[in-house]
Amino acid sequence: MSTRENALYYAKNNYEAFLSNLESFIRIPSISTSSENVVWVKTAANFVEKLLNSIGVADTKILETNGHPVVFGHYKTDTPNAPTVLVYGHYDVQPPDPLDLWETPPFEPSRREDYLFGRGSSDMKGQIIASLSAVESIIKTGEVPVNIKFIYEGEEEIGSPNLPAFLEKYSKLLESDVVLNPDSGMISPNIPTIVYGLRGLAYFELRINGPDHDLHSGLFGGIVHNPASVLSNLISGMHNSDGVIQLDGYYDDVIELSEIERKELSRLPISDKDLLDQTGVKMLWGEKNYTSIERTGVRPTLDINGILSGFTGEGSKTVIPAWAMAKISMRLVPDQDPEKVHQQLIKYIEKNIPPTVSWDLKKFAGGKASIANTNHPGVIALSKALEEVWHTKPVFKREGGSIPIVGEMQKILGTDSVLTGFGLPNDNIHSPNEKLHLPTWRKGILAIIHFFYNYSGENEN
Ligand code: BES
Ligand code: MN
Repeated sequence: MSTRENALYYAKNNYEAFLSNLESFIRIPSISTSSENVVWVKTAANFVEKLLNSIGVADTKILETNGHPVVFGHYKTDTPNAPTVLVYGHYDVQPPDPLDLWETPPFEPSRREDYLFGRGSSDMKGQIIASLSAVESIIKTGEVPVNIKFIYEGEEEIGSPNLPAFLEKYSKLLESDVVLNPDSGMISPNIPTIVYGLRGLAYFELRINGPDHDLHSGLFGGIVHNPASVLSNLISGMHNSDGVIQLDGYYDDVIELSEIERKELSRLPISDKDLLDQTGVKMLWGEKNYTSIERTGVRPTLDINGILSGFTGEGSKTVIPAWAMAKISMRLVPDQDPEKVHQQLIKYIEKNIPPTVSWDLKKFAGGKASIANTNHPGVIALSKALEEVWHTKPVFKREGGSIPIVGEMQKILGTDSVLTGFGLPNDNIHSPNEKLHLPTWRKGILAIIHFFYNYSGENEN
């Protein structure tokens, strides 16, 4: 048997152990945005470092940043002239709320039929364990065909605010030929997917301040401008009836889709019916003159992620709220710049805000969109790997989600990422009842094993 086959054999015989590692990992509530969970985030970093050691990566360290730490690892192969793959992952997760909608608690992994439920099962603790299990299978059964470095961050779900500085500082340590990033997903269990583009993100909190305390709406209603109404008006003016965003200059830097790419994207096997099923909406909505795949992949958006004002408890209470707040984010496409978009939003507010209230805008971390070269040797190795396991060629997709570090790694380290992942569109990532489809996940482990051998240029037998 070739080394590759030994590794595949090892993986197939150790799924239970891999899965139990994943369950232990999910039990750690590493919510990066929550200050109450700082200790848990650190615990997750330690967990990843220990796991690296236990699979045979001796050279590991925990590197501090101004935020949550980064776990680094390095496995040096004896194979001469071998290339280096940098495996990326994020060990942090999104908050689990609303908690009452979970069928089993978010941080108590629960196996039900073909699924493992729990926060992070799909995004992306499952993907981390898949890649580490693949590496373990290779290390434990023979010669490792490439050098492998590992970078695990704890701030992806908050926009990786400290990662650019980290990449600058450790650029030498992180040198590699390609980054393997398993933080995206697949279109469906039978269609392996390579993501060659990600959208960027700009994220804001807008607060409208009215009276200095909540007022009796009978005594003062009619003479005070209600901050909730002011906020609603501002928000409703952000799109026109064709779904076009109304910030001045918003589309100036947007690269229009070429006819060739448009044709390619139209071939993707995703129908509006699939999207209706995945979302549960009555009818889809979006920017006029673009298809759904284009609207999520190559067009920018503006969304209200949350809104809060006044009395929202049980029953009724007659008040004029003192303030109103909305979380507003925009998914960006090449070549939009998050800072430019920030200025455009400020101008929009200045132009449309009535003189009756004051306002305040906070900006959170985000990043630019990224596009990868589909002829990269890493993409070719991955494409072959996915085909070896699924017996069908992968589709190439531009994804609507964001992974800020991908663009930063390109810019700061000069290294391209190949993006894949074994999560599915109905995994409920960032939502209650997040789950992982285990049969797909197991195939993913095998595909990553193939990837390493393909990338090293070694042929089977
Ligand atoms: N893994 C996701 C992004 C993703 C999901 C890419 C599915 C491709 C397919 C990632 O962890 C994520 O959710 N990122 C955040 C980033 C943000 C907070 C800067 C996102 O997209 O909202
Ligand atoms: Mn993720």
